[in-house]
Amino acid sequence: MNVVIIGSGGREHALALSVSKSKLLNKLFIIPGNPGTGKIGINILIDVNDSWGILNFCLSNSIDLVIVGPEQPLIEGISDILSKNGIKVFGPSKEAARLEGEKSFAKDLMKEYGIPTAAYEIFYKDDYEKSLTYLQNIKYPVVIKANGIAAGKGVVIAENYQSAKNAVDDCFLKHSFGNAGDKIVIEEFMTGQEASIFAITDGLDFILLPAAQDHKRIFDGDKGKNTGGMGAYAPTPFVDEEILFQISQKIVIPTLKAMRDKSANYSGCLYCGLMLTDEGPKVVEFNCRFGDPETQVVLPLLDGDLLELLITTANVKINKNSVWYNGGSSACVVAASAGYPDKYEKGKVISGIDIAENDELLVYHAGTSIKNGELVTNGGRVLGITSVIKENNLKLAKQKCYDAISKIHFDGMQFRKDICDKALNKNSN
Ligand SMILES: Nc1ncnc2c1ncn2[C@@H]1O[C@H](COP(=O)(O)OP(=O)(O)O)[C@@H](O)[C@H]1O
Ligand SMILES: [Mg+2]
Repeated sequence: MNVVIIGSGGREHALALSVSKSKLLNKLFIIPGNPGTGKIGINILIDVNDSWGILNFCLSNSIDLVIVGPEQPLIEGISDILSKNGIKVFGPSKEAARLEGEKSFAKDLMKEYGIPTAAYEIFYKDDYEKSLTYLQNIKYPVVIKANGIAAGKGVVIAENYQSAKNAVDDCFLKHSFGNAGDKIVIEEFMTGQEASIFAITDGLDFILLPAAQDHKRIFDGDKGKNTGGMGAYAPTPFVDEEILFQISQKIVIPTLKAMRDKSANYSGCLYCGLMLTDEGPKVVEFNCRFGDPETQVVLPLLDGDLLELLITTANVKINKNSVWYNGGSSACVVAASAGYPDKYEKGKVISGIDIAENDELLVYHAGTSIKNGELVTNGGRVLGITSVIKENNLKLAKQKCYDAISKIHFDGMQFRKDICDKALNKNSN
């Protein structure tokens, strides 16, 4: 098979590595890819949002499957354009991608089908005064979310009325998120451990991949601003067999049914962002694609043939026996540029990757490029330093990861020191 992967981050590097091991693979292209994916397949410089450009490339290169990494092209309907032209796609249709693209759509669907999630109210721009009255009469903290996608910046946890009002003003008066903030969801605040779980589904049948835990804040102890993700580990001990069963029964099965009922069959990766509350797992959000950096730790824990899983899913005949959990554990620590998630410089020379890498340690590229023959930084999140070990031992996985980081260098490199700690502290309790 000839395969295209769309995207340029650590997630796509991880997808490319797993797909490259498939016995079904002939040629692998990554659009646009990065220096890491360039060592595994052929990088093709087309914008990820240029659906017609991508379609043309696929038609002239006999592409059998397109795997879409980021949400934007899916929300804009790349799956529909490709499949209408005879190209198979792993990733949901435009209609189905609304589960991520419109938070109010996902919330209303969950309410209608009794899927556990935080209680909420929806307000439109025209309801400005009404939303403020509502905020004067509720318990805090409360969560305010821009309806559309806002690059991870559209969610505010407000401790009091004033900060809630500021969040509403940002959306409705300052238009900080454009159309994405013309509608907001105001949600009850939930407490518990967060977990991410990927359901791979053809719309009817599905498998769950090992559960991961992401670290979204920039600083240790979940302090500071939100980022694209500063690290992850899997499997997370917070999700046991009983919780997995509940996730299947109460969340994944009814969500897929709801989508079928609405003639928006969901196929691809349904990313369930969960809060593990005292009342059981509840949905924080759905994403319509693999998570970053969770993918970087989940895929290396699968034996079997990922490409077989993805192509059978795209063919609406998922082979659930294509992959299985290999019993290991994995930790990924993101090395980021100084200043990230705010302003940062690019072009810093990166050294030490080759010394750090070994059988149990891989370094994913996220924001890198080649300049004058040297590998340099080219983004906020630069590398994903990732240990993969054969036993389920997160303590060892963490140690191997941080041993490797000490060998890697670029000017201003910052990273969290506490990836895995929530799980490790749980085990010592
Ligand atoms: N109802 C909620 N209760 C507690 N925390 C929440 C709630 N909703 C969101 N969060 C926190 O905010 C983060 C971002 O929210 P999310 O809905 O995932 O939006 P996005 O990923 O699009 O920014 C979550 O990972 C979680 O930490
Ligand atoms: Mg999220």
